[in-house]
This record gives sequence, structure tokens and C-alpha cells, in this order.
Amino acid sequence: MSEKFDVIVIGSGPGGYVCAIRAAQLGLKTACVEKRKTLGGTCLNIGCIPSKALLSSSEKFEEAEHHFGDIGIETKPKLNLKKMMAFKDDVVEANTKGIEFLFKKNKIQHIEGAAEIVAAGKVKVGNDEYEAESIVIATGSDVVSLPGIEIDEKKIVSSTGALELSEVPKSMVVIGGGVIGLEMGTVWRRLGTDVTVVEFLDQIMPGMDGEIRKESEKIFKKQGITFKTSAKVTSAKATAKGVDLTMEPAAGGAEEKMSVDIILMAVGRKPYTEGLGLEKVGVELTERGQIKTDEFFETSVEGIYAIGDVITGPMLAHKAEDEGVILAEMLSGESGHIDYNLIPGVVYTWPEVANVGKTEEQLKEEGVAYNSGKFPFMANGRARAMGMMDGFVKILADKATDRVLGAHIIGPGAGDLIQEVVSVMEFQGTAEDIARTCHAHPTLTEVVKEAALAVHKRPIHI
Ligand code: NAI
Repeated sequence: MSEKFDVIVIGSGPGGYVCAIRAAQLGLKTACVEKRKTLGGTCLNIGCIPSKALLSSSEKFEEAEHHFGDIGIETKPKLNLKKMMAFKDDVVEANTKGIEFLFKKNKIQHIEGAAEIVAAGKVKVGNDEYEAESIVIATGSDVVSLPGIEIDEKKIVSSTGALELSEVPKSMVVIGGGVIGLEMGTVWRRLGTDVTVVEFLDQIMPGMDGEIRKESEKIFKKQGITFKTSAKVTSAKATAKGVDLTMEPAAGGAEEKMSVDIILMAVGRKPYTEGLGLEKVGVELTERGQIKTDEFFETSVEGIYAIGDVITGPMLAHKAEDEGVILAEMLSGESGHIDYNLIPGVVYTWPEVANVGKTEEQLKEEGVAYNSGKFPFMANGRARAMGMMDGFVKILADKATDRVLGAHIIGPGAGDLIQEVVSVMEFQGTAEDIARTCHAHPTLTEVVKEAALAVHKRPIHI
């Protein structure tokens, strides 16, 4: 007889493992199927965590190489890439083992292998069959490439290969000026690679506030990244030496040829549904290959649910986590809700870029009257003391009610600073609320407060 669970979660990334933990906390008998050897999905194994380890290490290297002298520390650092990679691998191992521990603690059964849904309530892993009241698909996403360009993870790499290079390439073309392109491009630029980012649109970082996009391109250029915007790569072929590629203007025109050591493909990700047997059981997909769900995350088949990158919405670990928690709570009879407008986005370059809520462009398009307040890190004592003065905080608030509608930050610690605004927005707070809240001095948080004061045209330090 097959073993029976209340919930079987397929995939152990941030969506899946968090859903499994919450379900187990609520007393549901839970299993999680994972085909990778280690738990944690893309995020922990080949995404967020290893990339942040390399971003943090390469940032320290760049500081030591170029900026320590400015503050009176004479040193000449030498890169040991093997050790930097080993540190990253240790970080990944510690994190994935952490999930193993949490599974044991919460008595979640970890089933190793690839799951196929054979019917509503029935999952097959290898030769074993399992039954479940509810099945949660949390299989995440996979890299996409461009037609005719094959990712070999050696010379033409995705983010996965870019985390594993065994030596510092002399030159790299990054296709796509989005999150992965800029984060991984930054890592290798800091370690000595000549990086060119080719972006199809006329500006990098699509979806971000226009001013942030402009400012970030300016700062990254100053740091040494070359940008070719309104351009597309039309072919790329690995050779004995590296990669030969051709590109042309996005609107068509004269072709340009280039030879580089490495190409990093970062033009987006696609939902991962391979091998799940969705067609056979009748789970419907959108035109873009995402699993269709209703507001309760239920698919077109009763009892089969989906969360995270495999459904619509931003492909972000914290979005998947929140969906996992709410779904587990709904499965145990509670109710829940996510405000998708309040999911922050962070790009972990230096300076960091972070956003929540509406951009100025969106507010204009929606015809919403708003006030904007902006304050630069340059005028903040702590930022000066840290020698990190690039960027600004911008807060957008409703003209009539002062309710905060969006915040856009480029600057030191942006990813942490944005959280204050997310909380204020969650409680439907105003710019005045932020401005009247005491912010410790000297901290970078004062830039958020000053931007809120600037909404009412009364910043103190500018
Ligand atoms: P992305 O969607 O962020 O950026 C892809 C970029 O490629 C866009 O700017 C697009 O205009 C450009 N592009 C598309 N086709 C092109 C072409 N033929 N030639 C040149 N440019 C082209 O996708 P990315 O960076 O691959 O990231 C994938 C997903 O992973 C995103 O949803 C992202 O949010 C997520 N992610 C999030 C991170 C974070 O939150 N810090 C870190 C890494 C990934």
C-alpha cells in the first residue's frame, strides 16, 4: 500500500521548503520531494546564496584593491579564486544542511527523486507511489537561452556556470542587463574581467523606476562596465579560444563582431514543469508556460496547487516563501492574502538597488497624483563616514492622502533600508509617518527619513 500524506510538496526551494515547514507546524503530515541531491532549490544551491557569497567576497577584494588606500590602509591584495569559490561552496553547504535539519525538526519526510503526478492525490517517485490530500507544485524556474545559442556552462554560461568559473576570464559579454546580468557581471568585473553588457532595451533594469535605471547605469559605467543598450546578440559560437559573437542594433542595422572568453546568458528564466505529467492530469498552463492558478493557488485540477516561480508574478524567493506560508495555512483551514504590490525587489550590486510599490512611470500612466521626495546619500553623515555616497532614496506619496505609494533606493544598504518602507506601506502609512518616526543617528536610515521629509519639501540636511 502506498504511504499517505496530507500534503506532498514537489520541490524544496524557498517556496516548497517553507510551505512544507509551515504545513508541518500546523500539524499536517507532510512530505517534500526533491530531485537535486541537496535541499534548497535554485536559491540555495545555484542562485541567491552562492551569488551573494561571491558578491560579498568580490566586494571586499575590490575595496582592498582600490579603496583601502583612500582611508589609510596600505595593502596589495592577491586573489585566490579557488579559495573564494570554496568559501562560497561552504556557505551553500551550510544553508542546504540547515534545511535538512529543519525538515527533521518538523518531521517532514524528505523523498529523494523526481516526482511525477499520476493523478490528483497521487505522486510517483521512481517506482514508489505516494498519496496525498493536497499536492503542491513548487518546482521553480530554469534558465532560458536565445534561439541558436547553446549554453554549454563552460564558455557560454548561465548564472549556474558563472558561479563556477575556474579562472578569471579576460573578457565577458553579458547578454541581458537585468538582475542576474548586473549581479554576476559585477562579480567578475571586480575580479578583473572586462565586462560588456548587451541589453535589448534602451536602458538596463527593466521594470525599475526610470531615475534609478538612469542612475544605476551611470554608476556601473563609472565602475568600468561597458553597456551596449538597444542592441541584441544574434549569434554566438564557442571556439577553441573563447566565443565569437555577432550583435546588431535592436531595430536592425550594421552587424558588429566580437570575440570574448565567456558569454553569460541572462535574458530571463522560464517556469520549470518538465516531467511532472501535468498534461496527462489536466493541469493547465498559461501561454508563457506558467501553471494557471486561482487566488487560492489551486490549479485547474482540484487538490493540485502551485506556488513560486512556476506560476505568475515576480520570480523572487521571498514571493515564493510568502505564497508557501499562505497556502499551507489555507490547506489547514485558515485564510490568507498577499499584496503583490508590496513585494520588494533588491539587486545586490554595489550600490544596491531596491524598490517597492509603484514607479513614477506607473503612477503617471495610472493618472495618480503624487508627491515625490528625494534625498542623496551624499548628504548623510554616516554614508560620508563610510565613504559610500553614491545614490539616493526616493519616496512617492499620494498627493491627497500622503499615503506612501512607492519607494526606490539606490545606495549603500538599499536592500535593508527598503524594508522600513515596506512595513509602513503594509500598514497603509504616510510619508509623514516615516518623517515623524525617530531614526537613529548616525545611520543610513536617516536618508529614508529625509526623503520622506522631502515629500513635504522640508528636508533638514539639504
Ligand atoms: P531579467 O528579466 O531580470 O533580465 C533580463 C534582461 O535581458 C532584460 O533586461 C531584457 O530586456 C534583456 N533581454 C532579453 N532578451 C534579450 C536579447 N535578446 N538581447 C539582449 N537583452 C535581452 O532576467 P534575469 O536577469 O535573467 O533574471 C531572471 C529572474 O531571476 C528574474 O525574474 C529575476 O528577478 C530573478 N533573480 C532575482 C535576483 C534578485 O532578486 N536579486 C537575483 C537573480 C535573479
